[in-house]
Amino acid sequence: MASLPDIKDDVAFITGAASGIGNMLMRELISRGARVILADVQESACQQIVSELNLKAGKTIAVAKKVDITSWDDLLSAYEFGREAFGRVDYFFANAGVGELQWLPKFESDKFTDEGSTPIQKPNIQTAEIDYTGQLYTAGLALQVFQRQPLNRHGFRGKLVLTASIYGFYHSVTMPMYCSAKAGVVAFMRSTSELYKDKGVTINCICPNITPTNIVPSDRFQVFEDHGVLTPTEFIVEQFISLLGANQTNGKAIGVYKNETWEHPFDTHKRAENYEAFKLIDDGYGRLFGYW
Ligand SMILES: NC(=O)c1ccc[n+]([C@@H]2O[C@H](COP(=O)([O-])OP(=O)(O)OC[C@H]3O[C@@H](n4cnc5c(N)ncnc54)[C@H](O)[C@@H]3O)[C@@H](O)[C@H]2O)c1
Repeated sequence: MASLPDIKDDVAFITGAASGIGNMLMRELISRGARVILADVQESACQQIVSELNLKAGKTIAVAKKVDITSWDDLLSAYEFGREAFGRVDYFFANAGVGELQWLPKFESDKFTDEGSTPIQKPNIQTAEIDYTGQLYTAGLALQVFQRQPLNRHGFRGKLVLTASIYGFYHSVTMPMYCSAKAGVVAFMRSTSELYKDKGVTINCICPNITPTNIVPSDRFQVFEDHGVLTPTEFIVEQFISLLGANQTNGKAIGVYKNETWEHPFDTHKRAENYEAFKLIDDGYGRLFGYW
């Protein structure tokens, strides 16, 4: 990772820093001289990491706060705690997430003919709540923090990087909650990055294919390894780091698979035909919300 940006002394807020991609990213940031605020539901794991890092550094380079990203209050208080320690936040990584949790019982029409015998259940949309709502809260915090900060030495108020997924572009019959959440994150990034360009803010998404973390039990990765379809987590982390410092990249959904990365294009099918209406819609909302 030799030619990546200089981020010494910069401050990063990372959700999901206790494990997997977020943990490796946090450690890479530290190794490059940055300071970190760890935000994760796994409080004791984070506190242990922070103690080890600070002991090794001989000063405070990391702090942690228990955060459930579906709680705005948790996120805000973690930011305030981090600001006390480090003064500002240059990078927000909206990274915490979970895999697919079954949202509806299996479709078995023959078992449900007797009305009333099987009550209709409330769907379990926890995956969407964490992977979408939680990401939006994190982003909503980041953008308001950036608005309140002066430009840093790189010329930015701050950078937001969201961990989406390859499933932000494609769909899967078994993961409707995960796919809709990740597609929502990509759509959110495309919308906001355009509004915030020229404001000293960049917003991008990293969209990895499958990589071995704790998102599912470790034995479930074996089959992917056997087929040679895993993406190295280190390579994913490198893509996050490449967006930092003085890098100008904004509004990109960056796919990552094996050792390849690409900027995933947005859907332009029939866009030109619809564009006149889009312009009028944006004009209306922009004036209504005071954006221009
Ligand atoms: N592993 C993959 O194959 C893969 C591929 C593409 C995208 N992703 C995405 O990467 C991100 C990180 O996942 P990972 O693979 O490193 O998994 P992981 O399970 O190893 O790490 C996720 C971390 O998020 C934390 N977390 C979960 N729910 C939370 C909540 N409500 N509030 C705060 N923290 C919470 C967990 O405690 C954990 O530390 C997720 O957004 C995931 O969707 C993962």
